[in-house]
Amino acid sequence: MLIDLAEPQFALRLARISDAMADMPTGQNWLSPSEQTRLQAMRHSGRREEFLLGRWLLRTLFARSFGGDPATWPFAEQPQRPPVSVRHSPFGYVSISHGGGFVAAAAAVSPIGVDVESATRRLPAEVFEPLFGRSGMTDLERLQHWVVTEAFLKQQILPAHTDTIRRNALQPAPVNRARVRVQLTDDYIFAIAGAPDVLSAASFAAWPGYGPVGSGQS
Ligand SMILES: CC(C)(COP(=O)(O)OP(=O)(O)OC[C@H]1O[C@@H](n2cnc3c(N)ncnc32)[C@H](O)[C@@H]1OP(=O)(O)O)[C@@H](O)C(=O)NCCC(=O)NCCS
Repeated sequence: MLIDLAEPQFALRLARISDAMADMPTGQNWLSPSEQTRLQAMRHSGRREEFLLGRWLLRTLFARSFGGDPATWPFAEQPQRPPVSVRHSPFGYVSISHGGGFVAAAAAVSPIGVDVESATRRLPAEVFEPLFGRSGMTDLERLQHWVVTEAFLKQQILPAHTDTIRRNALQPAPVNRARVRVQLTDDYIFAIAGAPDVLSAASFAAWPGYGPVGSGQS
């Protein structure tokens, strides 16, 4: 596990897909009916793998925080939204991300959003600039900005459209005013958007913060 946190107000796991595969049951009888239906419509094996890993990782978070076997924590699919826990628990909000060989799952008592990408992913300026309306950034700055914005939009269940991206423009912010915290490693870039009590967790202390434009630079 690259990140593995269990706090009273949230839980979070980030893993390499190859490592997460080893911990997942081989059968699929733990999937809920709506998950089975969605999986059956997926043709690409890599996409199916990501889908399964995200759902399993999520179940492991709930089992660890509230007890029982991960398979006893069913989730229902929601179109264009993250899955929702069928069982009642203090964690009413979840977020999943898969990309670049990594998978992340988070659950919290308040809205939460996570996003992960491979640190080697190249995001061309021709793709980034029309969407974000910003230019003059390095490859790494563009990728970081993208991941941070995805986490922020996912926390609010917003689509990644040009208008929502621009309305929710972010800039580096002091940690006490950050709405998103980001971790940069040689392998991956990971961002988490959450309430202040989630983002003030000790594990995020060294991670740079981002906030809405106007939240001020330190
Ligand atoms: C779907 C989207 C929410 C995230 O897509 P993504 O970053 O490519 O994919 P991720 O793996 O990080 O996240 C996908 C997961 O987010 C969840 N999700 C889907 N729609 C969501 C929404 N509106 N809000 C929050 N979470 C959502 C789902 O659980 C999904 O996983 P699943 O398909 O296995 O069910 C959306 O942001 C999108 O369409 N992105 C496309 C990329 C883009 O144009 N980004 C612009 C830069 S910000």
